[in-house]
Order: sequence, then structure tokens, then C-alpha cells
Amino acid sequence: MKMKIAKLPGDGIGPEVVEQAVKAVDAICEKYGHEAQYGFAYVGACAIERYGDAYPDVTHQVCLDSDAVLFGAVGDPKYDNDPTSKVRPEQGLLAMRKKLGLYANLRPVETFPSLVDKSPLKTSLVDGADFMCVRELTGGMYFGEKGRKDGGDTAYDTNIYHRYEVERILKLSFEYALRRRRKLTVVDKANVLESSRLWRQVAQEMAPKYPEVETDYMYVDNAAMQLIRCPKYFDVLVTENTFGDILTDEASCITGSMGLLASASIGEHTSVFEPIHGSYPQAAGKNIANPVATILSAAMMFEYAFGLMEEGRAIRKAVTASIEQGIVTEDLAAEGEKRYSTSEVGDWIASYIKNN
Ligand code: IPM
Ligand code: MN
Repeated sequence: MKMKIAKLPGDGIGPEVVEQAVKAVDAICEKYGHEAQYGFAYVGACAIERYGDAYPDVTHQVCLDSDAVLFGAVGDPKYDNDPTSKVRPEQGLLAMRKKLGLYANLRPVETFPSLVDKSPLKTSLVDGADFMCVRELTGGMYFGEKGRKDGGDTAYDTNIYHRYEVERILKLSFEYALRRRRKLTVVDKANVLESSRLWRQVAQEMAPKYPEVETDYMYVDNAAMQLIRCPKYFDVLVTENTFGDILTDEASCITGSMGLLASASIGEHTSVFEPIHGSYPQAAGKNIANPVATILSAAMMFEYAFGLMEEGRAIRKAVTASIEQGIVTEDLAAEGEKRYSTSEVGDWIASYIKNN
């Protein structure tokens, strides 16, 4: 298969981890006889420096012209402590999500048996946890009307959802549940928020159309608790944008390192595959960041963008082998064991793919 893949490494550790994912993609292409053609574009702080815009039109065009986007991270501390800054790197990611219509963000949480002791939670709680968070990605407070009034002393962000936005993300989640263990948990705050009541109403209307799926409803505060109290309870969890942002960072702790969680953002145009961690500026350029989340995002790319399941599995198998054999970066290395660099882990995984 011929694949046009856009590389958008972004800021911080983004370039280093995307480079490792590209090694894995190239290894897969070599092994399975595919051909990857790469495009490249700037996003985030590096795009602001170059174009004064975190997601310039040239970058959008590169995405539109591709079959899939491999994204690294955006963010630069330079902008973090300046609330008056008009441009911010994060706007690049948000503009990309909106313009590409990426309304669904799939964040799988899977534990690696050899890493369960890395989790801050008890092994008995996390061993075998395996669920999918579906986060709505182009609505809610992130994109609702926002602003200041009273001379700047009052600020607001509107949490707005339209029925069609809720329906399409729930449809995808019900269908996803059908392909998994057939359990869907709709997370909201329907005891307080009107937007959540719309979510629950739409979910209750749709649930009878999916009789094979056991649907339940959970308030987000309770969900935050259940995720660490009993992560194995979940199969597919669906929620709105802001709740999903918060809960998936929480969920990443279950597996032991944020450096392990991949994600796929899918919707109307080209899909984007990205690690859930941020730009980790303190580690940028040091060759110490964990590339696994981005490499696993490449696995999701083969599966979701190209329907190449075996290729996705081959990447996962290589990642699992690297972890089992202790070829890991400092975040996962055991006391007194060798810590491998970002590029060493990337090289090891690519060569495992080629030789197995
Ligand atoms: C994420 C990130 C982004 C978000 C930031 C960088 C804008 O935290 O992908 O979870 O809040 O969605
Ligand atoms: Mn986040």
C-alpha cells in the first residue's frame, strides 16, 4: 500500500519521539512491502516563530493532502506564564482538531504485564485493566464562546454542545463497545450541568438501538474515583472534551507512565495519531524521553487509517518485547538497571520489527 503520512513533530520532545515512530513505520513498510511518503509541517511554538501562527494554512494543507498525520506535541514554557499572550502553541493543536473535524479522540488504556509494578496503584487493581476512553474533541468549553468582561475582571468559557455532536460521538462509542466487551459508560455531570443532561438524554434515546451493549451512566466526580478504585470496571468510557482531558491524564497513571499512552483523533478529514503526553520541555533535545507512546500511536495509525491490523500488531509486539527485555527509557527503568536513550529504544523496536 502507498501511504502519505504527514509528520508534525511540533515542540519539545516532539521531534525526537516522532523520529522513533518513523523508524517503526519504515520497518513495517520494509517488512510488509508498503511505501510511506512523508510530508512535513510546523505546528505549535515552532510554527509561531516561523509564521506567527500556531497552525498556519500551509500546515493545514499538508494535513489535508495526507492519509494520516503523525503528531508529536506542542507547548513551550515561554508562553505558559504569560496569561496576556495572544498566540499560544496549544492553539495550534486546537485549530488542527477543529479544522480537520477530529471530533473523536480514542485513548486506549492497556497495562503491560511486565510493568504493573510501575503503577502507583496496587498490582491487583491494575493487572489486566484494558479500556478505551473516547473523548469528544471539538466541542464543549474548549470551543464555546469565551471572553472577558467588566474591564477584564470577569472571565467565562461556555460549555456548549449540539445534539449532532453528542450523537456522532455516542454512535462511534456504541459501535466501539460492540467490538469490545460490550459495555459503555457514559460519563457526565447531569446532576448539575445542562449540557450533560443533553448528553444523557441522547444516550438514553440511543441505547435501545444497541441492546447488546450494557450502557451505564456515571457522574464525572465518581468516575474519577472509580478509575483508580477499580479500573477493570471499564470497557469503553465516553465523555465530553474537558472531562475527557482530565480523566485521560488520570487514567495514564494506571499503566505506570504517561510515556506509554497513544491516541488516535478521528473525524471528518485526515486522522491524527499522537501520544497523550505533552512537549516535556525539560527533556527536549536530551534523548531521554520515552518514545513508546508515539510508536504505539503509529500502530494505531496502521489500524485506524489504513485498516492494516497485522502491521499494528507487529508494532505492539515489538514494543511489548522491548519492555519485557528492559530496553526502556529512564521513566520505566528499574532501580540500578540500564536506562536506554530515546533513539536506542527506537532503533531496538525497529530492528525487532524487521527481524521477527
Ligand atoms: C491533550 C492536551 C491538550 C488538550 C492541550 C495541549 C491543548 O492536554 O491533548 O490532552 O487540552 O486537549
Ligand atoms: Mn490533556
